[in-house]
Amino acid sequence: MGAERPGTSAGPVEPRPSTSSGHERLGSGHERLGLGHEGLGSGHEGLDRLWSRLAWIGRDPSSGGYRRFAWTPEDAALREWFASECGVRNLDLTEDRMGNQWAWWGQPDDCPGVVTGSHLDSVPDGGPFDGPLGVITAFAAIDRLRADGFRPVRPIGVVNFGDEEGARFGLACAGSKVITGALPAERALTRADADGVSMAEAYRRSGRDPDSVGPDPETLGRVGSFVELHIEQGRGLAEHSRPLGIGTKIWPHGRWRVDFRGEANHAGTTAIADRHDALTALAEAVLAARRSALARGSLATVGKTVIQPGAVNAIPSAATAWLDVRAAEEAAVRGTVADVAAAAEPSRVTVVEESWTPVTGFDPDLVARLGAVLDQPPLMGTGAGHDAGVLANAGIPAAMIFVRNPSGVSHSPAEHAERADCLAGVDALAAVLAELAGTVP
Ligand code: GLV
Ligand code: MN
Ligand code: MN
Repeated sequence: MGAERPGTSAGPVEPRPSTSSGHERLGSGHERLGLGHEGLGSGHEGLDRLWSRLAWIGRDPSSGGYRRFAWTPEDAALREWFASECGVRNLDLTEDRMGNQWAWWGQPDDCPGVVTGSHLDSVPDGGPFDGPLGVITAFAAIDRLRADGFRPVRPIGVVNFGDEEGARFGLACAGSKVITGALPAERALTRADADGVSMAEAYRRSGRDPDSVGPDPETLGRVGSFVELHIEQGRGLAEHSRPLGIGTKIWPHGRWRVDFRGEANHAGTTAIADRHDALTALAEAVLAARRSALARGSLATVGKTVIQPGAVNAIPSAATAWLDVRAAEEAAVRGTVADVAAAAEPSRVTVVEESWTPVTGFDPDLVARLGAVLDQPPLMGTGAGHDAGVLANAGIPAAMIFVRNPSGVSHSPAEHAERADCLAGVDALAAVLAELAGTVP
């Protein structure tokens, strides 16, 4: 990534030391707009400056990966970065009832706008591009349009959706799902993190009122269409001569919590045949998930477990696995979850669905319009979840632009996109915004 390879990547150039305000100072003169302004610009220098102001936040120096979780000090610094970038561009910043940040060029109450953007949070030890690329290119595209003298007929918005990865509370796309009503506020707020802190409490600790959280039709009413640019999380474009693709569909996917019950007992005195070991049940289930995925053509992952009591010399009394399953067809997803549950004794296992997103098709007219503007790049479906999918399922015309990822690796510090491809993303986003916001709806 860029921190290790300055000059070859659009990623972070250097981890930034914190200043007293926690941010590089942006200086004065926010009212001045255009490429001449320090900090603005859609070329590689402008892009590098945007990255460099963000790169230090939540970066783990030992791995180079990111730990940016909802409603933590890192999240606050990300939100402050977003606000600063809006301030320097004279965009009007608002927050919705879930705390997602929306910045506007123009008046969305007069006419629903064209919105772009993505998320800034990460998975544990995530890469620099998943999420931030969509926000950074959004600002750079606005800089480009302004430098070109473009005047939008419809307002243009940039959004920073909170808690997309669900890394802290386990609820994917919590920010967009709550405002669209796909996730009841009560269900989100009562979820606890690994330390037992509820989302409501995390909200309070960050100076917010959890009672204000809920569906936000007023905010959604301002969104005429949504185009999310994102690094590709696979190798669909890797061997392609084109740096960009257009998203057409997101696979159905979900997360399940699987609790296995055992009986604690002494490791040195309990015969193997007499044991009820929660962890061996979990291990069988993990292998069943793999077998089922291969048989059904699904993707099944257990990436997180908790074992009780966690003593070297005690038989595990309880074990919890979080199961992530995705597939092109919902039946394959459901089949794999059932296979995993069936791998354990029924009286000793409980499966709870923590999050579910049905198959999502992006808006065909919007996809066609993007295709025409961008000279017909490849059309692609994806198994990764995105806020664009949540908005699409809420009836908002949405689509995605994917930027080539040479290794296909994502959710890892090794995630990478070449700077030239990111710049192609800025060009594409600017062209799409000009097309969508340059005409009367
Ligand atoms: C989000 O990145 C997901 O698909 O898990
Ligand atoms: Mn992700
Ligand atoms: Mn993402």
